[in-house]
Amino acid sequence: MVRIRKSAWIEGHRLRLRNAVGGDAEFILGLRQDPARNAHLSITSPRLEDQRAWLAGYAADGDQAYFIIESLDDGLPLGTVRLYDARGDSFCWGSWMLVPAAPPLAAIESALMVYRYALDLGFRAAHFQVQRGNATVCRFHENFGARRVGEDNRQIHYAIDVGAIERSLLRYRRFLPGGIRSGPLI
Ligand SMILES: CC(C)(COP(=O)(O)OP(=O)(O)OC[C@H]1O[C@@H](n2cnc3c(N)ncnc32)[C@H](O)[C@@H]1OP(=O)(O)O)[C@@H](O)C(=O)NCCC(=O)NCCS
Repeated sequence: MVRIRKSAWIEGHRLRLRNAVGGDAEFILGLRQDPARNAHLSITSPRLEDQRAWLAGYAADGDQAYFIIESLDDGLPLGTVRLYDARGDSFCWGSWMLVPAAPPLAAIESALMVYRYALDLGFRAAHFQVQRGNATVCRFHENFGARRVGEDNRQIHYAIDVGAIERSLLRYRRFLPGGIRSGPLI
């Protein structure tokens, strides 16, 4: 059983993933409430105190890592991504969102950073769900080598193994040419 660990920060090429804290509640809520971005997300409470409470619960939870995606240039917050639900050597990732103004390369670089970090922790596979109708995100994951392994009324279930992850890290290495550097595990 491999464990998901929080890291204070992970730096890539143009992006930094920073461990989410209570002070990020406003940014996260704004993003999750943005009608341009939330059509395919599970609904969250619109109350700031609920978001803060969720982040306090997250801080105490040793089994997930929730990051704010930031621009390395100016530190501006660009989005969120989360690793959770480890099963054996497979991890789930999601809560993946970018602000509408994020640079086009942020999606692919943040995905590569998540996979690199997870392989470094010892994971050998990933699983995740995408809501039906979220066609661009389905295409994104399928281009990365994820396979459809099931579906229900609401969601399509995907899995990706270490071979496909490594092939994508190689194929897209121009988006993460120096790999990642990580801060201390929390
Ligand atoms: C999920 C999310 C973060 C993905 O970001 P995105 O910017 O929409 O991702 P895209 O698939 O459009 O990719 C961004 C760019 O990278 C390019 N790209 C994507 N995959 C690529 C690949 N494999 N190789 C090369 N370029 C690629 C795209 O062409 C696109 O460039 P363009 O804008 O010039 O066309 C974003 O859509 C979002 O916040 N969505 C709302 C929340 C959501 O649905 N989250 C998913 C929950 S499962």
